[in-house]
Amino acid sequence: MKNLHVIDHPLIKRDISMLRDKSTTSEDFRIVLRRLTSLMVFDVTKDLRLSSYKIETPLELTEGYATADEVILVPVLRAGLGMLEAYLSFIPNAKVGHIGLYRDEATLKPVDYYAKFPPNLSKSFVIVIDPMLATGGSAVAAIQYLKDREAANIRLSCIVAAPEGVALLEKAHPDVPVYAAVLDRELNKHGYILPGLGDAGDRIYGTL
Ligand code: PRP
Ligand code: URA
Repeated sequence: MKNLHVIDHPLIKRDISMLRDKSTTSEDFRIVLRRLTSLMVFDVTKDLRLSSYKIETPLELTEGYATADEVILVPVLRAGLGMLEAYLSFIPNAKVGHIGLYRDEATLKPVDYYAKFPPNLSKSFVIVIDPMLATGGSAVAAIQYLKDREAANIRLSCIVAAPEGVALLEKAHPDVPVYAAVLDRELNKHGYILPGLGDAGDRIYGTL
């Protein structure tokens, strides 16, 4: 699992525990998901390129920095939307592309129903956002969709990863790093992550 980066931090462990807890309400789930994503943004964006410029402090001239990469955030609908605002609060000039995918309950294969992207995918720093990497089918399909439109510099930001999903993604897209808050044990026979947190979209939007 060489493409997997698990971001290890006490505050991240605390927040995952709150998301796992079935008694956490949708209202609190959204708040904690957003806060947890904020804790992960720094690691996921650590390879952003900078440009330098001169700034005058009240005391002297010095070097300042601005981000040089154009960032495109790609939340996978629905659950990815729960992480989007955290990214936008740190990168307010990012563009957002949306991709709508749901898993067919019988086959567990992703079915696409929506896509809309900003231009310049080929030159941008692209972050695919989805809290759950289970079988990996949705992430593989979303990333393939982006590559078919010339995106080249892609990473996946998730919260809970299953070993099966990490392995599938590494096979299909070995160039794409995966950032996760935790690597869980396994999938159950319905494709849910164990111990997991349940259906992320349902937990966020109260559609249980
Ligand atoms: C969830 C999740 C991922 C997908 C992961 O979405 O947000 O997109 O499942 O599963 P996979 O790795 O096995 O493909 P879901 O299909 O439940 O759609 P939703 O967000 O609209 O509820
Ligand atoms: N999608 C989810 O939302 N949760 C899982 O455990 C697996 C797929």
